Amino acid sequence: MRPLVAGNWKMNKDYVEAVHLVQQLGVLLRARAVDRVDVMVLPPFVDLRSVTSVVAADRLPIAVGAQHASAHDRGAYTGETSVAMLSRLGITTVIVGHSERRRMYAMDDAVVAATLAAVRRGGLTPLLCVGEDEETRARGDHASFVRDQVRSALADAPAGDLVVAYEPIWAIGTGTPATTDDVAQMAAVVRDALPAGARESTPVLYGGSVTAASASELIAHGGVDGFLVGGASLDAEEFCAICVAVHDCYAHSA
Ligand code: PGA
Repeated sequence: MRPLVAGNWKMNKDYVEAVHLVQQLGVLLRARAVDRVDVMVLPPFVDLRSVTSVVAADRLPIAVGAQHASAHDRGAYTGETSVAMLSRLGITTVIVGHSERRRMYAMDDAVVAATLAAVRRGGLTPLLCVGEDEETRARGDHASFVRDQVRSALADAPAGDLVVAYEPIWAIGTGTPATTDDVAQMAAVVRDALPAGARESTPVLYGGSVTAASASELIAHGGVDGFLVGGASLDAEEFCAICVAVHDCYAHSA
């Protein structure tokens, strides 16, 4: 399986800044010949049209994903964006159930499952985010919590393409990623929770304060197939360095 490094820009970069960032990233990836890694950026909605246009025009080796989509196909859902609208733009992948959306926008397990089903129905790949908070880990319930999150997310649409990112909430945006051992243990939990037929084909990513400094160790020994990167994806040099670390690891193991 090819590794994936995906940059979740969250609510950063207007469309002018977004075009600049993706162009810079394209130049750097070409210069470093990063060809063993699938690279993806996930800009804010209002940037998507500009970013997909630049990627197509300049033939950049970068896929474009969205950070969210509605669970509904169309209708009176003010402020929402449908999977069909994203598909029309050439978007390949949609984040489903990021912890920030679960926490701030009432995205419970049922909504996560419905959204994942909508993404699959529209022919795009869901990038499902799972991960426990600090209290759950302190209680020692993190493995069962994440297992339940994976299983309930797939309840409405069990079969199809999928990417899963293990993102412990206590590591996101803190500057300190989970340890390599924690990542390896939880990547195994995620794989084990997947339907048997999907275990081999589903990339399992780690996310939470990944930087160029931590990427090499995490990719070599964390048992994951890549990363979902937040803060460090906003800087083209830093994000490219993470992609290079993954590329080098796979180049050596090939
Ligand atoms: P971070 O965010 O890399 O800034 O911790 C990761 C994420 O929330 O996807």
